[in-house]
Amino acid sequence: MTELNQIAKKILEKGKGILAADESTGTMTKRLEAVGVSSSPENRLLFRETLFSSEAMKSFIGGVILYDETIKQKSLTNKKIPELISGYGAIPGIKVDTGAKILANSPDEKITEGLDGLRERLKEYYKLGARFTKWRAVYSISENYPSKLSIYSNAHALARYSALVQECGMVPIVEPEVLMDGNHSAEECFNKTSEVIKKCFDELNKHKVDPSGIILKPNMILPGSGSKKEINTKTIAELTLKCLKMSVPSEVPGVAFLSGGQSEFDAAKNLNSINLINDTNFIMTYSYGRALQQSALKFWAKNIQNVKGTQEVFNQRAKMCSLASRGKWSEDLEKI
Ligand code: 13P
Repeated sequence: MTELNQIAKKILEKGKGILAADESTGTMTKRLEAVGVSSSPENRLLFRETLFSSEAMKSFIGGVILYDETIKQKSLTNKKIPELISGYGAIPGIKVDTGAKILANSPDEKITEGLDGLRERLKEYYKLGARFTKWRAVYSISENYPSKLSIYSNAHALARYSALVQECGMVPIVEPEVLMDGNHSAEECFNKTSEVIKKCFDELNKHKVDPSGIILKPNMILPGSGSKKEINTKTIAELTLKCLKMSVPSEVPGVAFLSGGQSEFDAAKNLNSINLINDTNFIMTYSYGRALQQSALKFWAKNIQNVKGTQEVFNQRAKMCSLASRGKWSEDLEKI
């Protein structure tokens, strides 16, 4: 087993998943303002530190994705944030892309940027304690999209990013997110997501990326959020597994899904259904942002001094996700 494979497994194994706390300052500002809290560096840290010091970190969180601002901050107890996280046995990670920008010659689509100077930034993050990284590509579904141009150019960028990250001794999270926005059917999501993921692995292979030293972070196969079509959780799980079996090399150690705008409840329920019928060798777990943080953020906004209360809300959410990653979640457990 290579060192990268070991890191990936340590993050994902034994009912653990990833806390995606790497919202850019712009996104975090929107999240905080939506619950009536002003977005200062102190407030951003206070909320995040509350989560990073919770009991859930020991049993349910194998890795935390940080944003550039946070990885350089110190906790109230004067600990460097990566050290605070490692102290609980979780691995610190870092978002390294610099955001999705308009794709030239296809202005309705996005290309993720951040390759320039990446090798140097990676060395700095490694010194700060990061052992894995994230790069997110986004694709939307409509009649003519995602275009071949966006599928190819984002796959190429993900492959160049992944090669540099492995060169630096870290595990790249490869995140091709086919967005839920739109009226499309689950079948369309299945077709487009399969095409996107296959292209990513074609490019990763061309760039000699070791598939055993990456983590794939895909969307689940769902109908568009504006679609009126009903779908049950078993069908979501079957389509998601079918897509991944067709497009992901067997050497990949694990898949950590994004929540992508699903409710906390649905994100746990659908992950559980996937694990009930998981007939692959891949670990199937979570790398959730909103579906791990939403309730905790709402509680905290009203009770900023109540660290323990906020942590209890987060612990419960993380526990539900962990149970789902082992196919042991049930609706009754949500009510406790
Ligand atoms: P959500 O789970 O809120 O979709 O966020 C995950 C993530 O890291 C998106 O890049």
